[in-house]
Amino acid sequence: MSEITRDVLIIGAGAAGLTAANDLRKAGLSVAVLEARDRVGGRLWTDVIDGAMLEIGGQWVSPDQDALKETIEELGLETYSRYREGDSVYVGPDGKTHRFTGEMFPVSAETEAVIARITGILDALVAEIDPDRPWEHPNAAEWDSITWDAWLRSQTDDDEAVRNLAFATGSAMLTKPTHSFSLLQSLLMAASAGSYSNLVDADFILDKRVVGGLQQVPLRLAERLGQDVLLNQPVRSLEWSDAGVVATTDELTVRARHAILAHAPVLYSRISFDPPLPRRQHQLHQHLSMGFVIKVHAVYDRPFWREQGLSGTAFSPYELSHEAYDNTNHGDERGTLVGFVSDANADGVFELSAEERKERILESLSHYYGPEAKNPVVYYESDWGSEEWTRGAYAASFDMGGLHRYGADLRTAVGPIHFACSDMAGAGYQHVDGAIRMGHLVASNIVDASRDAGAVESGS
Ligand code: FDA
Repeated sequence: MSEITRDVLIIGAGAAGLTAANDLRKAGLSVAVLEARDRVGGRLWTDVIDGAMLEIGGQWVSPDQDALKETIEELGLETYSRYREGDSVYVGPDGKTHRFTGEMFPVSAETEAVIARITGILDALVAEIDPDRPWEHPNAAEWDSITWDAWLRSQTDDDEAVRNLAFATGSAMLTKPTHSFSLLQSLLMAASAGSYSNLVDADFILDKRVVGGLQQVPLRLAERLGQDVLLNQPVRSLEWSDAGVVATTDELTVRARHAILAHAPVLYSRISFDPPLPRRQHQLHQHLSMGFVIKVHAVYDRPFWREQGLSGTAFSPYELSHEAYDNTNHGDERGTLVGFVSDANADGVFELSAEERKERILESLSHYYGPEAKNPVVYYESDWGSEEWTRGAYAASFDMGGLHRYGADLRTAVGPIHFACSDMAGAGYQHVDGAIRMGHLVASNIVDASRDAGAVESGS
């Protein structure tokens, strides 16, 4: 068992942990990043499958994501726009495919009016929410005690309007059934992107991609840290006191003055803490759970839908794949579609054999793009639910009532133990941008504490 000593130990080499590690290094503190997997990036993973480059995890960048955009620029990476020329497609309750342009689905005039009215109400509510402190809103307790689905149904009895409004934060973002999380949680999701309208605007929220893949962000951040990033080192135990921490992996002991837990909160209980974490953390961590979505990649010899004047953008709350997009790589002659199968639908298809599941999912894509969608040359399902060191996708959210009850303590340090992850961000919540923001925040808190203790030079 070898032993190393650093100022700060970071557990997790995702975007949050690597951002924090780089900031701490710049401030003159020594770091070690321990990563359980044999690669860096966590939920960012760009890989080549059967000859096709796929974004197995996160990939899109939106215009409000300043922290991520700044990092991309600073790392010298290039971005490109998602293909969006032509008509979008909507499949309605009658199972028929309708083409449309703009943001409003091709629904009846009555349903359109209901969607517009409720969107206005939601934008007004979201404007009152501080994404960093949603629990401070005077109505937080009330909004956290009604489900997202029940609140929408209290606004209208138009089922098509409810389904279309619900899935933006449900299947598409929190990736949980809409009866399982609160209106407050839904408002936080929207506030983290600036407004409900931003969140439902695919041209906004799914604006750009990084040439060569978004995993280059953590890869380049890790490169700067060199040998201070240690792979295949799952942290098994963490002893802590006011004096600092001692972490152990199967091969290594690391002593440090501070530790940052830079991974999904659902994994905190994988680490054995000595002494145990306080009662409040024991309780609050049990009220967070990961959503669940299968990201489906289908690569074709050419982007055939473009020949039909389709942008590739497709939605339907009635389809197995509730949304799908043109995900063709920069400069690639082949065409890639990406579809998403969420929460209970994902549970359902995992009951099937791999062949049957593929058939069902491609059948759903064919409802948007026609029969050619059934014959990709490469097919792959990102299944983060079976990844031991993530356990779901995209991120964690609170159960009913949990956000206003526990949210304020999620980021609070416990002695020398600090917490950073996209799953506790305000702006950029559940996104890489939020992970980077949390990485910067936790690093600056540690630098301030170290400065007070005289461990780093004042003003550095
Ligand atoms: P992350 O989970 O990435 O990193 C934590 C690291 O800690 C992991 O590497 C893990 O292995 C490690 N770890 C855990 N326990 C450990 C232990 N005990 N010891 C050592 N290491 C340990 N976002 C976005 O902005 N745009 C998008 O398009 C998408 N799309 C998307 C699709 C899919 C399929 C997924 C899964 C996710 C997205 N996201 C996204 C979300 C985005 O990828 C995510 O929010 C951030 O990458 C999370 O970064 P973190 O650093 O917070 O955690």
